[in-house]
Amino acid sequence: MPHTAVETPEQRLTLRVRAMRWEAASVLALELDDPTGAELPAWEPGAHIDLRFSNGVERQYSLCSDPEDRSAYRIAVLAESPSRGGSRYVHQSLRVGEIVTASPPVNHFGLVPADEYVFLAGGIGITPILPMLTDATRRGIPWRLAYLGAAGERMAFASAPQLAGGETLLVRRDVDDRLDLAGWVGTPGERTAVYACGPERMLNALEHLSADWPRGALHVERFQARTFGESQGAETFEVVARRSDLVVTVDRGCSILEMLENAGIGVPSSCLEGVCGTCETAVIDGAPEHRDSILTPDERESNETMMICVSRSLGDRLVLDI
Ligand code: FES
Repeated sequence: MPHTAVETPEQRLTLRVRAMRWEAASVLALELDDPTGAELPAWEPGAHIDLRFSNGVERQYSLCSDPEDRSAYRIAVLAESPSRGGSRYVHQSLRVGEIVTASPPVNHFGLVPADEYVFLAGGIGITPILPMLTDATRRGIPWRLAYLGAAGERMAFASAPQLAGGETLLVRRDVDDRLDLAGWVGTPGERTAVYACGPERMLNALEHLSADWPRGALHVERFQARTFGESQGAETFEVVARRSDLVVTVDRGCSILEMLENAGIGVPSSCLEGVCGTCETAVIDGAPEHRDSILTPDERESNETMMICVSRSLGDRLVLDI
């Protein structure tokens, strides 16, 4: 099943910037509420929203508040350098009281049931982890967290009360020794779930380590697209859009999403990099060449869905439920 319901314009949320707070060096936290005071849609730890600012820029941000608090969403925005427009707008132009629109919360990084959680956060990667700590603590599930940052003053939420609910290790690169990742994580048991969000190097190292772990133990979320080599799939392939009763040809150099849009089939999309999940589409037949940064190994293997902004086809034909 796709992770996302296709969002209609009526489902977009109108949110007001209720408060902004300097959370750490280069990190601004925003509180967003409904201008009418209504409760916001429910969400679960790991969820994100697609936020669209008044300058037209749209970005995904993890929700980092308490899921039980429906009065406002909290996100945290790191000033990126260079910025592609989103973080610069937040840090330089956005003001309290401004209205923004957002998708309802979407979750590709949900907490699976486990007897123990191991969390790894690097830098702003702490944001999706925070509500997981709250949730695990509430349910009485033991957890460990390693939170890695360049320097203490750059680590948002490093003194948040949520970090006190389990065993937290703060690693500041400017003063602490490098974390022995393999030694600290150990080998997860069958009922241990490991969640990680942070820089690509940390996630790649964990994926490498996880080769010897129980299948499905590692769950990662990427803020940036994973890098892939040249496509190993078909140079040119056909895509049958079953519900639209149309066939398009996809050549190297263009995406399935582009070709469907050129043929008049509108597909919701946002990042165009395979990281947000907005374009996730159900596969009816054929073998996708998955080139996204979201699906788990099991989900890739099942070939039930694919991200059509970046993924391609291994064979000469794909049939999509679209
Ligand atoms: Fe974001 Fe395709 S548009 S994953």
